[in-house]
This record gives sequence, C-alpha cells and structure tokens, in this order.
Amino acid sequence: MRATLPRTGRPPADILDEMRGFKRDDVDWKRGRSPAFMFEASAAITALGRDAFLEYFSENALGAGRAFASVKRMETEVVEMALSLFQAPAEAAGFMTTGGTESLIQAVQTCRDYTRAARGEPRLAGNIVAPESVHPGFDKAARLMDLEVRRVPVAADFRADPRAMEAAIDDRTIMLIGSAPCYPFGVIDPIAELGALATRRGLWLHVDACVGGYLAPFARMIGRDIPAFDFSVPGVASLSADLHKYGFCPKPASTVFYRTPEMARHHWFDFKDWPSGRFATTTLVGTRPAGGVAGAWAVFQHLGVEGYKRVAADLLAFIDAYKAGIRAIPGLSVVGEPPLGIVAYTAADVDIFRVAEAMAKQGWLPGLLRRPKAIHRMMSMPHAATMDAYLADLRAALATVRTAADGASTLRAEYGGR
Ligand SMILES: Cc1ncc(COP(=O)(O)O)c(C=O)c1O
Repeated sequence: MRATLPRTGRPPADILDEMRGFKRDDVDWKRGRSPAFMFEASAAITALGRDAFLEYFSENALGAGRAFASVKRMETEVVEMALSLFQAPAEAAGFMTTGGTESLIQAVQTCRDYTRAARGEPRLAGNIVAPESVHPGFDKAARLMDLEVRRVPVAADFRADPRAMEAAIDDRTIMLIGSAPCYPFGVIDPIAELGALATRRGLWLHVDACVGGYLAPFARMIGRDIPAFDFSVPGVASLSADLHKYGFCPKPASTVFYRTPEMARHHWFDFKDWPSGRFATTTLVGTRPAGGVAGAWAVFQHLGVEGYKRVAADLLAFIDAYKAGIRAIPGLSVVGEPPLGIVAYTAADVDIFRVAEAMAKQGWLPGLLRRPKAIHRMMSMPHAATMDAYLADLRAALATVRTAADGASTLRAEYGGR
C-alpha cells in the first residue's frame, strides 16, 4: 500500500524515536558488519565532521560565491590543500563535488569538451578505454554523453594491462582511465605506464583515486610501497578523490582536479542566456550542502598531515593483520596484492559465496566479487575492532560449508541496488 502524508502532524520527539527504531534492522556498521558504504577513522573524527556539518546545516554551497564567503573560503582551501597532496603543478585547478560519481561524470565531460575543442570536432562523442575494473560511474557518464566505454580485461595481477588497452584505442578514443586503487580488487593500476601511453598517443589519462586518494599519499609517507599515481606522473590529466571515503569526512564530499587551467575551463557550466542572468556552477548538481564543505575543512584542520599518517598507520597495520589472518586459514587466498583498504579473498576448494551465506547468518553482510568469485571488504577502523570475531566466524563458516552436502549459493554479487 502506498504511504500517505499524515493528516495531522506529530511532535519531533515521537518522530525521532520512531526513526531510531527503524534503524534496528539496518546493518550494524559500527561493529564492522558492513562490507562497504561506511568509513570511520575514530568516533571523535566522525563527531567533528558531524559538528562542522551541522554548523553549516542550512547554508547552500551553490551560493558560496555570492552569499557565503566562508563556504567559498573553505572550499578553496580544501581544494588547494589537496592539490599539494597530489603533487599538482602550480597552475593546476580543482573543484569539490558531492561524490565520486559526480567527480567521474565531470571529469569525463571536461575531457570530452576539451578534446572536442582541441581536435576542432564540436560533435565528437568517441570512446573511453579502461580496464574492466573501473567503477560503473564511467558508464553512467558515457550513457549521459553518448560515449562508449571499452572495458579491457585486466592482467594476471588484476591490474590494468596497458598493452591490451593500447590495442583497444582507435582514432575516436578520447580518454584512458586507471584506478588508484580499483574497487573490485583494491589494486593500483600501473599509472606510470598508462601515463606514458597517454602521452605517446596524445590522450587524456584520468586517475580514479576516489577510493584511495586520501589514504595513498599518507601510506607512502609512512613508508608503504605505493607506486606513483598522481600528478607527479607525466601524462595524468585529471584525478578524482573522495573526501567522504578514506578522507574520513562527512558525506557528500569529493574532489576532482585538472593539470592545466585550459583543461579545468571546460569543467565549468556557464549559461548566460537566462532571464535570471548568468548561471555558472562547478558541480553537476545545483543546490548542495555546505555541510560537506565545512566537514571536509574541519577534518583536514584537525588531522593535518601527521594525523592522517597516524590514521594510515593504524588502518594499514590492521589490514596487514586481517590479510595474515585470511592467509592463515587453509584454502583461502587474497586476490592480488591490494595495498590499501580493500581486500578480496577466495577459496580453493569450496564455493566462497556459500561461505558468505554462512557468514551472513552471523550478521556479516556479504560483499562479493564475481570474477573471480570472492568475498570483498572495503574496511576502516570499525572493522578492526571486530577482526578476531570475523576471522573466528569465517573459520566456522568454512568448516560448515566443507562438511555440508554440495549445494549452490543463491547469492548474487551486487554493490548498489535498491
Ligand atoms: C574507484 C571508485 N570510483 C568511484 C566511486 C564512486 O563513488 P561514489 O559512491 O561516492 O559516487 C567508487 C565508489 O565506491 C569507487 O570505488
């Protein structure tokens, strides 16, 4: 039956009580039960992000340029701090957006319009050549802009295969993509090789660092083996990185950057033929929460470089222990060599989806990969607190599946969905 608007209203306390009750059936993410969607470095950092967000709860970042100088200042500073982090040249430019998907869509549109201008082909649509592991946000962008995404199989180490990608390039190719890291396997594509390929073929390389961008630089600073993935690599034209993932800032907040002002110029939407006058924005959306800007600025100020290094050290130490725990279980192996927050693992002798089913009965919401079949988790500190319980349940689930009669799992790998 369709819900209807209540005829008379109710007191706020009643409503909030009822809403809190709704949460009973939600996944218990604070105890690490969710395989994705949530990121937390500590409850205190989350609380700061929330307080800063609420301080700017009512302001509209659409009006930052004209009405809210404080929002504009914070947005400019967040972008500038991030440009340094990604070793961008002095003339590079960047923008905040409301999420990874918006950053990807804007990067694709900017690349398309820049390429149209550069090639003198105003109607050029063309294609994007990418490893099969890139995020579907690129396909969303392609659908909106009538582009084609050519997904190319990854190499045996699950990273992009530059030679296979080169073979998919033709004269209508406008963009190459590499991820740092990709969502399915958590591995960083060979960005230096892709940069060299892009330079040689005169193409735009986008680095999708949405899921690792705000962790990888600090992981490097603490001595982890993270290959160059940012503007230090010649040939990288644009880069996306989500604040609301491993930046540990409140949602919605992402960033997208361009190597040159000529590229960045095409990012802007600037419409002059409107009765209300000029309408210029740097986001796909119009109205957007200033809270996302304020939250990111506050978390940056609070953590600073040293704070982010501490977060990276704690998180990666936990993930090392988690990977060691998986590898210590006979029959299980980690997919590829993921260096950051995403880990997928597979089983040699049983259908791992059946293991995921048994884990779901213990309250661990399954995250799955279908090629290869694996259990997938994108982790932050709530997962650390429950690692031992997770590994114990995993051993038990495996034992159950190994002794049970053969059967097929009914689980299907999905990330989004309704
Ligand atoms: C590599 C990568 N790019 C882009 C996105 C899209 O980000 P969002 O969900 O914020 O739109 C994700 C999301 O997980 C991702 O993993």
